[in-house]
Amino acid sequence: MEKLDQRIQLVASNEFSKMVDEWRRTQSDLPSRSEAIRRLVQRGLRYEKEHPMHMITAIIRPHKYDEVRAALLELGVEGITVSQVKGFGRQRGQTEIYRGAEYETVEVPKLRLEIAVDQNLLNQVVETVQKISSTGKIGDGKLFVHSLDEVVRIRTGERDQQALR
Ligand SMILES: Nc1ncnc2c1ncn2[C@@H]1O[C@H](COP(=O)(O)OP(=O)(O)OP(=O)(O)O)[C@@H](O)[C@H]1O
Ligand SMILES: [Mg+2]
Repeated sequence: MEKLDQRIQLVASNEFSKMVDEWRRTQSDLPSRSEAIRRLVQRGLRYEKEHPMHMITAIIRPHKYDEVRAALLELGVEGITVSQVKGFGRQRGQTEIYRGAEYETVEVPKLRLEIAVDQNLLNQVVETVQKISSTGKIGDGKLFVHSLDEVVRIRTGERDQQALR
């Protein structure tokens, strides 16, 4: 058995404790809170090791692009693919254009950003795009995060994380 002789202080919110307790109850051996947190951290670390790269697809309002782009460059993102797309969300594009018009589904112009990142940038990129792209009104867009299996830089043949730097 692993020797447990390091004390780590942890202050958490009520919500966090509840989440941990809920998970604990799904485990057949009902681990203590500390044991539950140890297991979850280990899982998280293993997950990150197995999924070190992600592709973020962001559907945003076109007028937000310049600000998002500047912020991503600032973070250290090494490339962005941007396409003009059209789509609709749960309001079916309606109220975004004409309020109260016919009940017809309308595709609204958006930009689709594709950003491949290494683990160390994932959270910051997702948070940055979300914050900057939000106006608080319906139709602000969506972010999709997929884990990425392989990347190749065509010129050099470099692969994976090497190809993302
Ligand atoms: N489930 C989805 N699958 C694929 N694309 C989507 C999906 N939901 C939204 N999109 C894309 O994102 C764009 C903006 O969606 P939108 O912001 O309206 O989403 P929403 O879920 O309706 O949220 P909100 O209630 O804030 O409007 C759409 O035009 C579409 O291109
Ligand atoms: Mg919508």
